[in-house]
Amino acid sequence: MRLPRGAGLGRLAAGALRSSQQHVCVSGRAAASMAEEAKKLAAYAAVDNHVQNNQVVGVGSGSTIVYAVDRLAERVRQEKLNIVCVPTSFQARQLILQHGLTLSDLDRHPELDVAIDGADEVDAELTLIKGGGGCLTQEKIVAGCAKHFIVIADYRKDSKALGQQWKKGVPIEVIPMAYVPISRTIAKRFGGEANLRMAVSKAGPVVTDNSNFILDWKFEHAQNWKEVNTAIKMIPGVVETGLFVRMAERAYFGMEDGSVQFRDAPIN
Ligand code: 5RP
Repeated sequence: MRLPRGAGLGRLAAGALRSSQQHVCVSGRAAASMAEEAKKLAAYAAVDNHVQNNQVVGVGSGSTIVYAVDRLAERVRQEKLNIVCVPTSFQARQLILQHGLTLSDLDRHPELDVAIDGADEVDAELTLIKGGGGCLTQEKIVAGCAKHFIVIADYRKDSKALGQQWKKGVPIEVIPMAYVPISRTIAKRFGGEANLRMAVSKAGPVVTDNSNFILDWKFEHAQNWKEVNTAIKMIPGVVETGLFVRMAERAYFGMEDGSVQFRDAPIN
């Protein structure tokens, strides 16, 4: 099923999806499993609508992407598709290998047909906060190499303005030796506070796949995200920000009622 592209919001009834997801019933489900089901619905819709034979596909990171890789592997098996996958993280690489999919990289495939990835928050214009899982730099590189960048999320990520749903701030990957001056500069110039992300099952900070640190910038108010993204990237030692501005083409949201909504980026 291919969907027309255009600005605005669309809705796919559960029945409009492929047969493998038609028996979805969300009534009475606990919130956590409802969110998991919503992730799956969004992921399946994205893979079904945007992946075709002989494509190079960017594979995002996080928990929602797991469902997308499940579906991708299912389609590759059932439809005998020839698909090459480029990962955005160690986790994505593992997922690709575990599912028996063809692993590649940007050296061999610098141009991707489509990249599919999750997000922490998606605003009305499809500006994203990403990096809850700490993989934002490789995610942004891969998305930037793709002709189409498609976001998959559950209903909790859908937002009018950044910060309304996601309260953990904007992740910023930084060179370790510079995290204190970068944190101070961000707070001074843009307000709020940028805190070093600490590991949970390890003493000390989270260390990214690129051996860097993450600052989570808790901003105080809405900003011009394009300008702020550019300004933060200019601070020496900043590797990348989790602000994805004008990159996503479409976002799919799995909803609580078992349907899938999609929203397209505004046409500039
Ligand atoms: C990782 C990411 C993830 O895509 C984002 O955190 C969403 O994750 P999940 O699908 O688990 O909600 O940006 O760096």
